[in-house]
Amino acid sequence: MTTDRSVPEQAGTSGLLRAVTHFLGHEVAPEWRRAAEATPRHLFLPDRIWIDDDLTPCDRQQEPERWFAAAYEDAPVVTQLNDGREPADLTDALPSSSASAPAIVFAMLELLDLAAGMRVLEIGTGTGFNAALLSHRLGDVNVTTVEIDPAVAEAARSNLKTAGYAPAVACGDGTLGWVPEAPYDRVIATCSVERIPYSWVSQTRPGGAVLAPWQNPWICGGLLRLTVEDHGTATGRFTPDSAFMLMRTQRRDLFLFRDVVMDEHVPDECTTALSPWAVADSAFETQFALGHRLGDLWYAWHHDPHLDDVDTRLWVSTTSGDSWAAVDWDGTQNTERYTVWQHGPRRVWEEVETAHAWWLDNGRPGPDRLGLTVTAEGQTAWLDDPENAWPLP
Ligand SMILES: C[S@@+](CC[C@H](N)C(=O)[O-])C[C@H]1O[C@@H](n2cnc3c(N)ncnc32)[C@H](O)[C@@H]1O
Repeated sequence: MTTDRSVPEQAGTSGLLRAVTHFLGHEVAPEWRRAAEATPRHLFLPDRIWIDDDLTPCDRQQEPERWFAAAYEDAPVVTQLNDGREPADLTDALPSSSASAPAIVFAMLELLDLAAGMRVLEIGTGTGFNAALLSHRLGDVNVTTVEIDPAVAEAARSNLKTAGYAPAVACGDGTLGWVPEAPYDRVIATCSVERIPYSWVSQTRPGGAVLAPWQNPWICGGLLRLTVEDHGTATGRFTPDSAFMLMRTQRRDLFLFRDVVMDEHVPDECTTALSPWAVADSAFETQFALGHRLGDLWYAWHHDPHLDDVDTRLWVSTTSGDSWAAVDWDGTQNTERYTVWQHGPRRVWEEVETAHAWWLDNGRPGPDRLGLTVTAEGQTAWLDDPENAWPLP
C-alpha cells in the first residue's frame, strides 16, 4: 500500500472522507479511514474517464487538474463505455465499468461488518479500488475479486500493484462466484442484480453474508444484505437507495417500442381508473414496493407519441416481452379514466392494478418492510416476514 503521499493526494483523500462522513451521517470508522488514506483513488483511474451525468470525456493529458479532481470527488467515475467498444456518438454510450461513488463504497464496506481474518469475494472488480480497501483491512490473502471483462481485470491488477496490493483478481463470470477460494465469510457485488446467483449463497459460510445492489425490473433499487443460514438459505432486507450498473449476464437487450410492440399485434381495449402516474411516476418507495410485488414487469413512458387523443402513454411489459399494455392520457385535466390496450397471454395492466391495491391494503409499505429469501430453488419476495412470501422470477 502507498505510504508516501503528496500534499494534493492527502488533501484529496481528506475531502473524499469528509463527503463520505456527510453521506453516512457519522465518522468513517478508523479502519476504513486508514484504508482510504493508504489508497489514493487516482491510482485506480485510467487516463481517459467520463464524468458527470452527461458522460463528459476527460483526458488526463489534456486536463490534468480536472482529471485529478474527479478522482477525489464523491461521484462515480466511468472508466469504460459499451464493454470497451467506445461509440463514435456519445448518445449511444452505456457505462460498462466505473469507480463507484466513494460514499456508496464506504457504506457497503460498513454494511459488510468485517472482522480480522474474514475471507471476502468481490464480484465486479472494476478499477480495483474497492478490492484495495478490502485488502488493506483483511490482507491480500483474504480477498478475491472477479471481473468479467479481461481488459478491465488486467487494468485492475496493474492498479492494485501500483498501489501496493495483491489480492487474487480472477477474470470470469461472477454469476458463478469463484469456487477455488470458497468458502467466504462475505460476498459483495459491486454490479447490481435482479436475481441473486445461488453460487453466492452456496459459497458463503453459514452465518456469513451476501451484500449486493439490488434492482427490480420496475425501478433501480437499494442494497440487499442477506444472511446465510445453516440449510443453504439466505434471507435479508433492503437499504435504499443505490444505483449500480446491472451485471452483464443479467442485461436485457429489449426495447419496449422496438422489440416488444409489433405492428401485427391487435390489443384489447378497456379503461382504468388507476392513474399511470400513481404507479410509474410516484415516490421511489412506492415504485420499489410495486416492483417487488410485480416481479417481471417493467415500464417506459412515451410523451407526445403523435397519436390522436394521446398526450402521454405508459408502456408496461413483461421482461420476456410476450405481454404488454399501454395506458393513454388524452391531455385533458381531471381525467378519471384512462384508455388501456393489452396484448399477450398476460393482462399486465390488471396485474399492476392488483399490485397497487395490495400496496394500499398493506399500509403502503416502503423498502424497509420488504425482504428477499434465496434458496437453491429460486428467490421469494416477502412483506414484513419471510413467511409472508411470493415467488419472484
Ligand atoms: C461499478 S463497476 C465495479 C466498481 C469496482 N468495484 C471499483 O471499486 O472500482 C462494475 C463492474 O462489474 C463488472 N461486471 C459486470 N458483470 C459482471 C459479471 N457477470 N461478473 C463479473 N464482473 C462483472 C463490470 O465489468 C464492471 O467492471
